[in-house]
Amino acid sequence: MWANVLYLFLVFAFTTARHPEVSTVRQNLPDINPAEFKSEYWYNEAKAGIEKRRRSDPDQNVAKNLVLFMGDGMSVPTLAAARTLKGQLAGNTGEEEELFFEGFLGVGLVKTYCVNHQIADSACTATAYLCGVKNNYGTTGVTAAVARRDCNASLVEANRVQSIAEWALADGRDVGIVTTTRVTHASPSGTYAKSADRHWENDAEVLSDSQDPERCIDVARQLVYMNPGKQFKVILGGGRREFIPESMIDEEGTPGRRTDGRNLINDWQQDKIDRKLSHAYVWNAEQLRSQFESPPEYLLGLFEGTHMNYTLEANNDTEPTLEEMTELAIRMLSRNKKGFFLFVEGGRIDHAHHDNYVHLALDETLEFEKAVKKATELLPEDNSLIVVTADHSHVIAFNGYTVRGTPIVGISDEIDSDRMRFMTLSYTNGPGARKQVDGIRDDIREDSDFGQLRWRSHADVPLVDETHGGDDVAVFARGPHYRLFTGLYEQSQIPHLMAYAACIGPGLQAEGCNGANTVHVTAILIVITTAVKILFL
Ligand SMILES: *[C@@H]1O[C@H](CO)[C@@H](O)[C@H](O)[C@H]1NC(C)=O
Ligand SMILES: *[C@@H]1O[C@H](CO)[C@@H](O)[C@H](O)[C@H]1NC(C)=O
Ligand SMILES: *[C@@H]1O[C@H](CO)[C@@H](O)[C@H](O)[C@H]1NC(C)=O
Ligand SMILES: [Zn+2]
Repeated sequence: MWANVLYLFLVFAFTTARHPEVSTVRQNLPDINPAEFKSEYWYNEAKAGIEKRRRSDPDQNVAKNLVLFMGDGMSVPTLAAARTLKGQLAGNTGEEEELFFEGFLGVGLVKTYCVNHQIADSACTATAYLCGVKNNYGTTGVTAAVARRDCNASLVEANRVQSIAEWALADGRDVGIVTTTRVTHASPSGTYAKSADRHWENDAEVLSDSQDPERCIDVARQLVYMNPGKQFKVILGGGRREFIPESMIDEEGTPGRRTDGRNLINDWQQDKIDRKLSHAYVWNAEQLRSQFESPPEYLLGLFEGTHMNYTLEANNDTEPTLEEMTELAIRMLSRNKKGFFLFVEGGRIDHAHHDNYVHLALDETLEFEKAVKKATELLPEDNSLIVVTADHSHVIAFNGYTVRGTPIVGISDEIDSDRMRFMTLSYTNGPGARKQVDGIRDDIREDSDFGQLRWRSHADVPLVDETHGGDDVAVFARGPHYRLFTGLYEQSQIPHLMAYAACIGPGLQAEGCNGANTVHVTAILIVITTAVKILFL
């Protein structure tokens, strides 16, 4: 009996936080292969994947520009449901519809587990799809040799990994990040941060884990003060509270969270002033839109104290859409003749799922789709590789035998064995769980908020937050070497494949990369020969 009480206590204690950290029931498990704790293991795994698939890849083009679009928590059922909603909003049955990027010819699946967890969070997956290395749950930009919150281990050079953003910068290309979450949140931080804990977004969070914020620098400060973050040309998203002191209130009334007295928004601007670089800081949509005419060299846009609002609930005078942010970022980065790397995250698909807000999750997916479509309009297919993926799945279920054309965010035409109605889209777990009455499920249609945006679809297992799923997520690719992205492979191959196609990074490079250099040398030779002719003939 006491064992049961203890078990319930543990379940309660560890299920009250989103992305909980400790498993509640420990078993006698096989050892993890220690080779996985080193980056070489994942680099070699990716190299083998490229060698295997490059034989069926005749592409001679290389990618000057790279855009990685990541829908956080955008599972395969989420895609199927979102495309149906899109079709139904256009007045059709819906199921036959296609999300724009679903038409890309390179389509694959990736395995999302991280080194110590079967089911991943957004920090270890970001390290996989941005740094090409799998690591531990909750950690960013470091190998699995770093346990969560082990500040000292995260400072050891061999344990720190580079992101594809760093590979692009090393080649003279520009880099930008765009997200609907805080720019210091797990996914975007994978482009620039090395942190033993994803929650160390400001110095107070480092202190609260009894670590020294002067040794383990918080994520916001890494973005503004350190490489590669300080070289990013465009940074757009939410999260002002991580940048300003506790004593300060931001433009829209959110208090800051920093206890080191730093105002990183000012410091970011001062750095550009000191380096005589044109720059702007914007905090609302109007100001962002006014930058389209002639954007500065560096742009920082922080549109909310924390995450940006769901588009269906946002005030569009103050919050830009993901599409608008993506367009401006691409216009800015396209000025670099050598090309660029841009990371774009639809970050709130995940949050809506965690709350069992299915309609909001689908709408955020459609907003994400618009941003991808805009990018394809702005970037030529023969020199720009666009990859669209998700970091991990969610436990949304697309279920029943509902007839064709039934509203996707509505009720199924099926009934359960107690003759009770259920939704076509429900969840395995989460806050939408209802207590049964006399062993029979609630009639959800009687909920007072049924049909509203923040109505929670029903769930089986009660949890404060719905969880991620451990199933594979899809990858869609368009542009040079898109064929490499077909198949089923480790998520950590993604940045290696992109780097291969773009002739950057420490790994294998496409054949066309030599071609690109040859063209370059030939062009120089032609110029010299012509000059010689003009001078001497
Ligand atoms: C981390 O390293 C510092 C400096 O070497 C040392 O003072 C401290 O005790 C170490 N912390 C732990 C937990 O090992
Ligand atoms: C957006 O989110 C903020 C909190 O982040 C909230 O204060 C605000 O009311 C929300 N709604 C709109 C329309 O901006
Ligand atoms: C902002 O919202 C208004 C009213 O809903 C709409 O007409 C307009 O197109 C929106 N603008 C943008 C940029 O989304
Ligand atoms: Zn999540």
